[in-house]
Amino acid sequence: MRNNIFVTGGAGFIGSNFILDLVSPSSNNLIEVIINLDNLTYAGNLENLKSLKDNPQYTFVKGSITNKDLVTSIFRQFQPRSVVHFAAESHVDRSILDSDNFIVTNIFGTHTLLECARDYFNHLNEEAKSQFRFLHISTDEVYGSLKKNSPPFSEKNKYEPNSPYSASKASSDHLVRAWYHTYQLPTLITNCSNNYGPYQFPEKLIPLCIFNALTNKSIPIYGDGKQIRDWLYVKDHCKAIQSVLSKGKPGETYNIGGLNEKTNLEVVHSICHILDELKPRFDKESYSSQIQFIQDRPGHDRRYAIDASKIQTELGWKPEASFDSGIHETVAWYLEHQDWVNHIVSGEYQRWIKKHYS
Ligand code: NAD
Ligand code: TYD
Repeated sequence: MRNNIFVTGGAGFIGSNFILDLVSPSSNNLIEVIINLDNLTYAGNLENLKSLKDNPQYTFVKGSITNKDLVTSIFRQFQPRSVVHFAAESHVDRSILDSDNFIVTNIFGTHTLLECARDYFNHLNEEAKSQFRFLHISTDEVYGSLKKNSPPFSEKNKYEPNSPYSASKASSDHLVRAWYHTYQLPTLITNCSNNYGPYQFPEKLIPLCIFNALTNKSIPIYGDGKQIRDWLYVKDHCKAIQSVLSKGKPGETYNIGGLNEKTNLEVVHSICHILDELKPRFDKESYSSQIQFIQDRPGHDRRYAIDASKIQTELGWKPEASFDSGIHETVAWYLEHQDWVNHIVSGEYQRWIKKHYS
């Protein structure tokens, strides 16, 4: 069986970091062909992968994971050894305003992918079956909200999703689990905490804060800003995914976290301090003066935190970046890639900002 990998949603934030990491010279991966299926929603951006344009190891297919014929033809043509499923609608605030696409892509799309994978798997020989893996990328938000002093989420926590986004991801996790138990499809699930790093669309807190600071706009903080997230540098996440793919046990779930619990206010102040240092404002005021407290998100989860001891003890992965090093690299990346940001903050993005923040 050829070592081909079928990635969904590879033009998004984490997917494109994952693909770039796979083909980087420092990666000791033996992947033959990477097939990236993405229907290029507002969040998908082929510019992230432009360095791969002439790379024979990489193929892009534009289309939706909900298209059964297309997904089937990809399995038939490329005979992948593994599927890494990132494709999703991923923004909580958008799910609150309109959940339709979340149900279609995250639930129906995952179901279609599972069914096509099952059909493909059933026709493999025994050796190929033993090598095949279906890795579903999910979120810590399926576990709900933690109290201040509660222990972080382990794989044993019960599911208590609170937003349309997390409910749709929880549904997809349950489908993946069921396809392992009922059909013996060798699935794996990872539930990770909030990612940050290069190529993140500036609707999420960190890139939004950097973009608004630099364009002299207010930096919006929901409620009191004391909500806590466990920030995971995307490059550490990509390494964790590779560990799970190569060493994870089918049927298992692995939680992946950055060991970096921070309040939103702490995160935003850190970014402002770094910007004050790297690109001071003309008037020498701190970018922190642009912070503005606004109405809270409905049903806003107070705290997420991950207990990553299972992946650490069983697969030997732990995050390398501290929050200080990761956020420095991230802010520097956005400063060096202003063109990338300027290209994506056009039409649809402006409509979203107007609808959500006004
Ligand atoms: P993203 O929104 O940046 O990218 C999603 C990608 O999926 C885009 O390229 C989009 O075009 C594509 N896509 C959407 N619908 C599709 C469809 N029907 N068919 C094919 N492609 C489609 O998301 P991300 O931040 O890169 O997240 C990737 C995965 O990781 C998601 O499953 C998300 O739930 C999960 N996750 C993300 C975070 C985070 O902090 N970003 C945290 C935990 C889990
Ligand atoms: P976000 O990046 O949307 O990720 P998630 O909701 O999946 O955790 O938000 C991270 C945190 O930042 C979350 O607590 C909501 C908060 N937030 C703001 O305070 N202001 C904003 O404008 C945004 C987008 C998020």
